[in-house]
Amino acid sequence: MSQAVLILGATSAIARAAAAAFAGQGYALYLASRDRDELRRSAADLRLRYGVEVRYGPFDAEAIATHESFFRSVIEDMPNLHGVVLAFGFLGDQQAARDFRLGEKVIAANFTGAASILSHCANYFEPLKRGFIIGISSVAGDRGRQSNYVYGAAKGALSLYLEGLRNRLFPVGVRVITVKPGFVDTAMTYGLPGLFLVASPQDIGERIVRSLDKSADVVYLPWFWRYIMLIIRHIPEPVFKRLKL
Ligand SMILES: NC(=O)c1ccc[n+]([C@@H]2O[C@H](COP(=O)([O-])OP(=O)(O)OC[C@H]3O[C@@H](n4cnc5c(N)ncnc54)[C@H](OP(=O)(O)O)[C@@H]3O)[C@@H](O)[C@H]2O)c1
Repeated sequence: MSQAVLILGATSAIARAAAAAFAGQGYALYLASRDRDELRRSAADLRLRYGVEVRYGPFDAEAIATHESFFRSVIEDMPNLHGVVLAFGFLGDQQAARDFRLGEKVIAANFTGAASILSHCANYFEPLKRGFIIGISSVAGDRGRQSNYVYGAAKGALSLYLEGLRNRLFPVGVRVITVKPGFVDTAMTYGLPGLFLVASPQDIGERIVRSLDKSADVVYLPWFWRYIMLIIRHIPEPVFKRLKL
């Protein structure tokens, strides 16, 4: 029986490319998101193209009370689960997110919901002493900027959470990788002003899967974002607060 990977937020453009790359390596897949029709179409397409087992089921990051039973049903369907890719995220209108009614949704979709489902994944893999968790965070979580600090705060919290989880699971051999993409051409960024060095979701998805073959714990995608963010993080606060970023 082949090893399986759970893709959370499987309708994301980046996640689709990662799912195809995993299927190409022979992994079975469990696809999860809120859009059941799209999941059904994606599952049929992946089965046809790669001949692997693909299951799917509904998952809402904000519906925290459902996460335990959701994860249990994944394990029942795929007892050979070996890895998880946490790909869901919500940017929304960051001006509107200054109103906490939307801000709370951004934090729930990017952080609280992620911490909830990852707790179930971690508690499952830890006693088995095997497996991997890949969490898609963002360069936006590396420094608070006026244009997207609600999303950035949620992603920054996710990065910190993944760092702690890696620290906890390393001794038992469970790998935790933090992925920090820069700008990627997906529905999330469609029509946004000021984008530069925009990567394709295909490229980012494939690189996410390849990160398992390397030893890095924190992966900036493409690689040059590590240096862009290094510079941005080192701008002194008295200067930074005067910038329109
Ligand atoms: N695009 C970029 O420039 C960029 C840069 C850095 C990081 N990222 C991160 O990369 C990841 C993938 O993003 P993408 O650009 O591929 O975006 P996308 O195509 O807009 O996909 C977003 C995904 O998140 C899911 N989602 C949103 N809210 C959810 C919720 N409450 N519960 C469950 N699923 C939910 C959506 O699923 P439904 O079908 O359920 O709506 C969809 O699958 C995200 O974590 C994003 O924050 C993106």
